[in-house]
Amino acid sequence: MRTPIIAGNWKMNKTASEARAFFCEFIKLIKDVKDVEIIFAPPFTALSAATDAAKDTKIKISAQDMFWEEKGAYTGEVSPVMIKDAGCSHCIIGHSERRQYFGETDEAVNKKIKTALKFDITPIVCIGENLKEREANKTVKVIETQLQGGLTGLSEIDMHRIILAYEPVWAIGTGKTATPAQAQEVHKFIRDYIRKKAGDKIANGMRMLYGGSVTPENINGLMAEEDIDGALVGGASLKPDSFAGIVRFS
Ligand code: PGA
Repeated sequence: MRTPIIAGNWKMNKTASEARAFFCEFIKLIKDVKDVEIIFAPPFTALSAATDAAKDTKIKISAQDMFWEEKGAYTGEVSPVMIKDAGCSHCIIGHSERRQYFGETDEAVNKKIKTALKFDITPIVCIGENLKEREANKTVKVIETQLQGGLTGLSEIDMHRIILAYEPVWAIGTGKTATPAQAQEVHKFIRDYIRKKAGDKIANGMRMLYGGSVTPENINGLMAEEDIDGALVGGASLKPDSFAGIVRFS
């Protein structure tokens, strides 16, 4: 039985005080929720405020990115040690916006995953095809390449420690969700890929999130699919009531 995960990615939204106000309201709305792992990824500047606001709850805090070096002359970067110190147990790695706007490659994703694991941070590794690739029937090929590059050199135990997020780029922030069947098809492909590389036990235990315009209205259909274990939510995670509506999926 895989415990579902609902994760909110705030992207470049919310100051520290806005984060505090959010949690104040949100925690009341999900008090009675059990058996769902809730994770938030605020921007770096709101991490400490978020950890502090969520400290008496089961909510976990994630960074949205990190660098692969521990410290040094890397102006503007944030290290795994720093995000851990700010209270993060997780880190999103390889989000399509990092890949698209900041040139992040599968090789960089791979280095970040390995470093996160070294510092006992759970990576939430994002993969997904863009519209052109989907229309050219290249979805599976793109996913396979991203998995190959991103997971190179990981042991079976390492694979056991990561969370994967399938986020079709054409569905992110567009209001165009993949249908449950479209998402399931790719999730199944990913689980089968992991099965080939790391065996049944690890593949069956791996949690895979869907991301791309998830809302309280479409979450139930997605969660009903066999290989979808949760969601990575952008826009709808910014308001306490809409995110609580997703966490309370049935
Ligand atoms: P969205 O973003 O829910 O706003 O589409 C998802 C994501 O980028 O993680």
